[in-house]
Amino acid sequence: MNISIIKTEDGSDSLYVKDLNEHYHSTHGAIQESKHVYIDSGLKHVSTILDCINILEIGFGTGLNALLTYLETEKLNLNVNYTTLEAYPLDMEIVNKLNYADCVGGENPKEIFTTIHTCEWEKSIAISPHYNLHKLKNTLQQIGFVGSYNLIYFDAFAPNVQPEMWTEEVFAKLFSVLKPNGSLVTYCAKGEVKRTLKKVGFEVESLPGPPGKREMVRGNKKL
Ligand SMILES: C[S@@+](CC[C@H](N)C(=O)[O-])C[C@H]1O[C@@H](n2cnc3c(N)ncnc32)[C@H](O)[C@@H]1O
Repeated sequence: MNISIIKTEDGSDSLYVKDLNEHYHSTHGAIQESKHVYIDSGLKHVSTILDCINILEIGFGTGLNALLTYLETEKLNLNVNYTTLEAYPLDMEIVNKLNYADCVGGENPKEIFTTIHTCEWEKSIAISPHYNLHKLKNTLQQIGFVGSYNLIYFDAFAPNVQPEMWTEEVFAKLFSVLKPNGSLVTYCAKGEVKRTLKKVGFEVESLPGPPGKREMVRGNKKL
């Protein structure tokens, strides 16, 4: 894949994939979007009822969500088991150039970011006493998940670029591994996506999106 680093409007980097004509994050702000969608509307929402949280991320990519979640785990005194799926891990040559560690604050972000990327795949690794990371190299279509999760970060490329990631079959699979009262959050608020989520059993909330986007979506699995 032909990938280049771009600067988004909040000063944080993202990646542009020429073959897909698609970015890894919102060009209005990569960190701003990740914090709004996954941390504020996902992690903080679930942490009001739980302090030990199993998270599943679809699309590890740059590792930005994994890093932000780690930092929040330390701040909010949570225990997090973070499982993340990625079919096409990035080269470290690209990862090493990303400026996230310079933008996020917190303690030792550079060291943590490097560890998140260099730790072994297919194994649960204790990054800290409060944060275990389990990276899975596979496709969403092929993987059989063994765990169950309180929160899913659904961060695939957009439906017009990768429609096979947004199907009824995929969301039914994710619904089945979500624990009761669990939530799935995603940046995408297309009508078709909301309808598919409802069809497989989610109760769907449309929430205000990050700057530059009107809406985002949280799907909840009711008891
Ligand atoms: C929008 S980007 C991920 C953004 C990521 N969360 C981040 O913060 O950088 C989508 C990711 O999904 C991955 N991906 C593409 N097809 C996939 C598949 N079939 N199964 C799992 N991951 C896939 C891509 O390689 C890419 O890293």
